[in-house]
Amino acid sequence: MGDNESKQSIVEVKIIEKGPVVIHGPVKVTTPDGMVVVRDMCAICRCGNSKNLPYCDGSHLTQSKHVYEHEEFF
Ligand code: FES
Repeated sequence: MGDNESKQSIVEVKIIEKGPVVIHGPVKVTTPDGMVVVRDMCAICRCGNSKNLPYCDGSHLTQSKHVYEHEEFF
């Protein structure tokens, strides 16, 4: 595998402070009910307030209750 090929396969995962995990893919998401979705990118909710779980819908910006395990780090 050459340098260009290995760089193209890198998936960027960005953890937003008190927000979602943003994955720049392409990425394949499989939900607990077995639904599979392929996207160029996705934002996975970490706060538990989204009305569109497992995806972030921006609710973390207006909700005060979060379920972060290690809030001091993230
Ligand atoms: S992280 Fe955005 S709605 Fe939960």
